[in-house]
Amino acid sequence: MRGTAHTRPVAAAERAFRERFGRAPEGVAFAPGRVNLIGEHVDYCGLPVLPAALSHGVALAFAARRDERVRCRTTEPGFEEVALTLGDAPAGTGFGRYLAAAAAGLETGGWTPDARAGFDGAIASDLPVAAGLSSSSAVVIAGAVALLGVRGRLTPGETLPRAETMRLALDLAEAEHGVAIQGGAMDQSICLGAVSGHALHITFEPSGWNPVPVDPSRFSFLVAYSGRRADKAAAAGRIFDERVRQTREAYRLVREFLPHADGYPALVANHPAEELRSAADRLPAPLDGRFRHVVTEAGRTAAAARHLEDGDATAFGETLDASHESLRRDYEVSTPELDALVEAARSAGARGARLTGAGLGGSVVLLAPPGREAAIRADLTERYYLPRGIPAPAGTHLLDATPSGPAALLPA
Ligand code: GLA
Repeated sequence: MRGTAHTRPVAAAERAFRERFGRAPEGVAFAPGRVNLIGEHVDYCGLPVLPAALSHGVALAFAARRDERVRCRTTEPGFEEVALTLGDAPAGTGFGRYLAAAAAGLETGGWTPDARAGFDGAIASDLPVAAGLSSSSAVVIAGAVALLGVRGRLTPGETLPRAETMRLALDLAEAEHGVAIQGGAMDQSICLGAVSGHALHITFEPSGWNPVPVDPSRFSFLVAYSGRRADKAAAAGRIFDERVRQTREAYRLVREFLPHADGYPALVANHPAEELRSAADRLPAPLDGRFRHVVTEAGRTAAAARHLEDGDATAFGETLDASHESLRRDYEVSTPELDALVEAARSAGARGARLTGAGLGGSVVLLAPPGREAAIRADLTERYYLPRGIPAPAGTHLLDATPSGPAALLPA
């Protein structure tokens, strides 16, 4: 893993650690960001999603402490160093709350029952922050991997058995709810369960991770950041949680006339698409649109997983477009910038494009015909970025989204 995609943040985190603590770190935890290919705003309804890990991510260089404290700095501009005592309730809006959540998740899951050590650490990242690419879950996971490292539960290069990793993802997702939005477990699952060269078809009921190969001769994914932050500590977070409540309310109402279903997965499995659409029509606004998005997105996600397996990029691209339209019109989580970027991507020759992650700012994912990436990047720069005063989007706003590997503990 060293010497490949993660080199930059890993080296930067090691350097920042040395500068701050005057010694070498003992290890580095790396956690990737993610791009959700499709299955948006459905994980908290228990429905399947299809994300992939990015090569971009968060690196945390660390050394064990003997006490239960964590001191951690980050090279990210605008963030203060944090200091906390593990076990105290997570507080504040700084990134320290994500490290506290990591410790809380390990505690609830009984991951390191006899060890409580904290760490000194330094974080560096090459993921844009608040861009819909899951940088906050990456901090939680990097923190958890570092804690597993200092407490002797994980050694560099070692990976946890798959079943344990799945349980860890759910424990950390639960803990992150305590300090952030009421999302599902998609972000933590892909960050820990990613398989290089594959998207992960994740089911939650029952829990399952099914890697689907992404054939590079047919599918080339790019991520384009709109430049508008999706700030979970502000409006984006409030709207997100409102959407979660609305899907629950819609479900409660639908059950009054479709009683034979316990939860969205059963509802979708037991009722034909037509019946679900008419159920949506019987709901008051805006619940009708919210419900329609969730149940149609479930159908699109299943179809997209098949198209990916079949190597059908045209059909896959069409499901991306339909997903964006549903998120824009029915779920109302797009923005003028995301719509403009999706439009620009299609005009530039993408086979399909959609907002990815929670929306309300953030990024889009687009499917490029292999070999056309450079032309599409140049076109987007011309059409979208230059007019907005972003002259050099490569690396900061335009990211290659070739599916990458999972979070890992690396030797320092
Ligand atoms: C955020 C949440 C995820 C998921 C997406 C929307 O990233 O953390 O759990 O709900 O939004 O699909």
